[in-house]
Amino acid sequence: MDKILIEGQTPLAGQVRVSGAKNAALPLMATAILSSGLLTLENVPNLRDLTTMANLLRHMGGRAELAPGRAGLDISALITPEAPYELVKTMRASALVLGPLLARWGRARVSLPGGCAIGARPIDLHLKALEAMGAIIDLDGGYVVARAPQGGLCGAHIHFDTVTVTGTENLMMAATLARGRTVITGAAREPEVTDTALALQAMGAKISGLDTDELTIDGVEALGPATHRVMPDRIEAGTLIVAAALAGGRVMISGAPHQALDPVYDKIREAGVTLTLEGDVLRVESDGPVKSTNITTRPHPGFPTDMQAQFMALMTVGHSVAMITETIFENRFMHVSELSRLGADITLEGRTAVVRGVRRLSGAPMMATDLRASASLILAALAARGQSEIARVYHLDRGYDRLDEKLMALGARIRRVRA
Ligand code: UD1
Repeated sequence: MDKILIEGQTPLAGQVRVSGAKNAALPLMATAILSSGLLTLENVPNLRDLTTMANLLRHMGGRAELAPGRAGLDISALITPEAPYELVKTMRASALVLGPLLARWGRARVSLPGGCAIGARPIDLHLKALEAMGAIIDLDGGYVVARAPQGGLCGAHIHFDTVTVTGTENLMMAATLARGRTVITGAAREPEVTDTALALQAMGAKISGLDTDELTIDGVEALGPATHRVMPDRIEAGTLIVAAALAGGRVMISGAPHQALDPVYDKIREAGVTLTLEGDVLRVESDGPVKSTNITTRPHPGFPTDMQAQFMALMTVGHSVAMITETIFENRFMHVSELSRLGADITLEGRTAVVRGVRRLSGAPMMATDLRASASLILAALAARGQSEIARVYHLDRGYDRLDEKLMALGARIRRVRA
C-alpha cells in the first residue's frame, strides 16, 4: 500500500488548477444508464471511484471509455442490470445506479453500498422514495432487488425529511423516464445535484427548480445523446486553500467554482486567510496568525461536511479555541486521534470537537481512515515541523486527482512511496 511522506513547514508558491468534481462525475456517469445514445463527459478527474463506476457500467454490458479528462459512455444495450458486491464494496455511490436502472430497464439488483466508514449511511430514503414511485423492493443477501411496476415507474410527490444528496440525484434520475410528474421537496441543493440536472436536461429531460429544494420533473419517453462538462471540484479547491493557509506562502488557484464555495470562503476568511479573486483565479495568502473559528456542517449552502476535517486541520494551529460541530455524519471525527499524534489539542464532546490551537505541530506517522480525513492529515503535516508519514493513502486516491503531485508542484516537500 502506498504511503506519503511529508517534510513540513515549506511555504507554497505557484499556480494550481482544480480538477473536475468527484461528486458530480459519479452521478453524471450513472445518468448514462438512462440514455439511448452516447454521453460524453469532459473535465473528468482521474479518480479510483470513477474507474470503479466505469467497471460497473461495463459489467452491465455498457461501453465505458475513460481517457484523460474525458469519458464516453454508451449503455444503449444492457446485459445485466446488476451492481455486484465485488465491484461496489468500496464505493457507496454505487447506489446511484438503482434509480436509472429501474427507470430505463425496469429492474435492478444492487449490492448495498460500502464507502467511507464515517457513519451508518443507510439508503433507506432512496428505497422509500422509489417505492413511492411504484417500485417493488426486496432485500436479499446484501442486495437490493427491485423492479418497476407494469408500465414503469410513476411520478409521485416525494418529500425528503433528511436532506440526502445521492438520494435526491437517484430520484431525479429515476423520475426523468417515469410516467407523469414527480415533485421532490426537501431536495438537496448541492451544486453537484444541479450539475447532474443540467446534463439530464441536455439529454432531453424536463426538470425545473434547479438550485432550490423543490425539483419538478416531467417524465419523457426517452433520453438521447449529450455532451457535458463536469463542474470543478469545490472540495478539492477548499483543500488546496487550506494547504496554502497551513504551509504559508502565496498560491493561485484557477478554475474553482467560486459561487459554490461561498460558505467555505466565508469561514476561511474569518480564520484570517486572505482570499482575493482576480478574474477566474483565486489568490490565497496567509502570513498572520490563524484565528480560531467555529463551524457547524450543514447541507448546502451551509458549511460542507466534506470540508470539516480539512478545516479542523487549520484550526489545530488557531490562536484560541474553535468548536467544530458535525451534524451530517455521526462518526466523522476519525481524523481527531490522528491529528493528535502531531500534537493537536482536540477533545470530543458529542458531535462537537473542541480544538484548542497549539503553537506548533510536529511530524509523526499517521494512518488515513477515510477520504477527507486523509486530506486533513496531509494538510496538518504541511504545517508540522519535521517529517510525517501517512499510510493507507488509497482512501485519498478514491477522491482526489493527484493531490500529492499538485502540492509537490507548488513546492511542498511531499513524496509518495509506492508499495
Ligand atoms: C454525498 C456525498 C458525500 C457527502 C454527503 C453529504 C456523493 C457521491 N457523496 O453522500 O461526499 O459527504 O453527500 O454532503 O455525492 N441518510 C439516511 N438515509 C438515506 C440517505 C442518507 O439516513 O437513505 C443520512 C446519512 O446517513 C447522512 C445524511 O442522511 O447522515 C446525509 O447523507 P447523504 O446526503 O445521503 O450523503 P451521500 O449522498 O451518501
